[in-house]
Amino acid sequence: MSLDGKHALVTGSSRGIGRGIALKLGGKGVKVAIHYHKNEAAAKDTLAKLRKLGSDGIIIQADICRPEEVSRLFGRVKSEFGKLDVFVSNARPDVPEFYQGPMNITLDQWDTALNSQAKAFLVAVREVCRMMDDGGRIVAITYAPGGRTGSWQSWVGMGAAKSAMESLCRYFAVALAKRGITVNAISPGWIEDSVLNTLPDAVQEMVRTWHRGGWTPMGRLGTPADIGNAVALLCSEEAGWITGQVIAVDGGSSLMDAGLPLEIQRG
Ligand SMILES: NC(=O)c1ccc[n+]([C@@H]2O[C@H](COP(=O)([O-])OP(=O)(O)OC[C@H]3O[C@@H](n4cnc5c(N)ncnc54)[C@H](OP(=O)(O)O)[C@@H]3O)[C@@H](O)[C@H]2O)c1
Repeated sequence: MSLDGKHALVTGSSRGIGRGIALKLGGKGVKVAIHYHKNEAAAKDTLAKLRKLGSDGIIIQADICRPEEVSRLFGRVKSEFGKLDVFVSNARPDVPEFYQGPMNITLDQWDTALNSQAKAFLVAVREVCRMMDDGGRIVAITYAPGGRTGSWQSWVGMGAAKSAMESLCRYFAVALAKRGITVNAISPGWIEDSVLNTLPDAVQEMVRTWHRGGWTPMGRLGTPADIGNAVALLCSEEAGWITGQVIAVDGGSSLMDAGLPLEIQRG
């Protein structure tokens, strides 16, 4: 579909990857509902940047961990836009709210992770379908390694939550296939100008050094614009036959084999 004049909702678009997605879509003439949780100033900044690109949008606050707020969010989109062509599920609670290993994670932290991804996506996609024409696009932003591996112990809650969301993508993809609505997940590699920049400096540098050193074959971290580009590709008319997939957008990092020394793997 041509994106000019379409309407999108990007959750968690006040900052980070969500902002990159909103701006990429805005640059293609999409009107964007910018969603935030606590950081209204950042959401206003995204809107200002969107307007500089010649597009426009609205700002909506909601806690995606609460199903009734997810429904309210879509009610607002419906009353402002009338319909939705693109829905991007990107928001994720701040790390301290769920970051704990499997032996210690509290049930509240577990619920925060699962509610923010799996339950929010379940409720959201049902709401989306009521206001999306045939041929629309639904994209979930995941982190696939967290669901596949077990080594990053404190990621257990979010790993399980993202896995459940990826599974929902496949089920919704079949449920909505007859309407030509595609449902896919994008799994970014490590991205600059995102949650990464809130981690201690030493941790940030370890991550950068690791990827530049070879564990990302392209030799750099990603940017929010890289992920925005991938979302825009999935929203194009030409992507209409791609559905139910988890697509790694990571400069090749998911191609590396953790069982072998880097020296043997370098191209
Ligand atoms: N960063 C990476 O390297 C990376 C890699 C792979 C996957 N991802 C995925 O990409 C997505 C974005 O990551 P990011 O690093 O760009 O995020 P981020 O910079 O931490 O931003 C998080 C966004 O989610 C919103 N949010 C936080 N808690 C919320 C809640 N309870 N209800 C509703 N919204 C809430 C925030 O709103 P406020 O500004 O109002 O707080 C903000 O817009 C996430 O799903 C993440 O798992 C990230």
